[in-house]
Amino acid sequence: MSRWPYVFFAAACFYIMVGVCWGMYMGISHDTATAPGHAHLNLLGFVSLSIMGGFYALLGKETPNWLVTTNFALMNLGVCLLAPSLFLLLSQRVEVGKLVPFFMVGEFSILFGFLAFGAAVILGLRRAGGLSGLRFGFAAA
Ligand code: HEM
Repeated sequence: MSRWPYVFFAAACFYIMVGVCWGMYMGISHDTATAPGHAHLNLLGFVSLSIMGGFYALLGKETPNWLVTTNFALMNLGVCLLAPSLFLLLSQRVEVGKLVPFFMVGEFSILFGFLAFGAAVILGLRRAGGLSGLRFGFAAA
């Protein structure tokens, strides 16, 4: 059994801890200006990494190690750049111009992270026999 699913879920747990604290901070301070940052941290960091971990545990066990590593590294780099950048931007602590490089690298990391995940899914599909012979439609009741 690969340890990768555990690694994905461990990272997801870390991000949701930070995300929940961020949400609590917004609730206590009555300042929801940074809510989109909180949402992106939770959805990219927790939800997306959990789905990927679930995929590798159930369906993507044969995925080459380099592809899983790429997927994991790019997603984490993206989350670690985007979430703090959104916080700094939305709380108006730093002007947007200074954050552009962080957003650029973060966004492309996430994009290519999902691309790597998509490649793992396609590879798994091909291993499972591809689309040939797949039956679409509804069975009669
Ligand atoms: C104890 C846990 C959490 C707390 C205290 C919390 C708190 C908050 C608060 C105060 C807001 C702002 C609402 C407003 O604009 O009036 C918010 C928005 C949001 N939260 Fe959370 N949250 C929590 C967990 C989560 C989780 C687990 C997710 C997703 C996996 C999530 C996703 C979102 C989204 C999508 C928004 C809307 C963002 C927007 O309007 O731009 N939250 N949350």
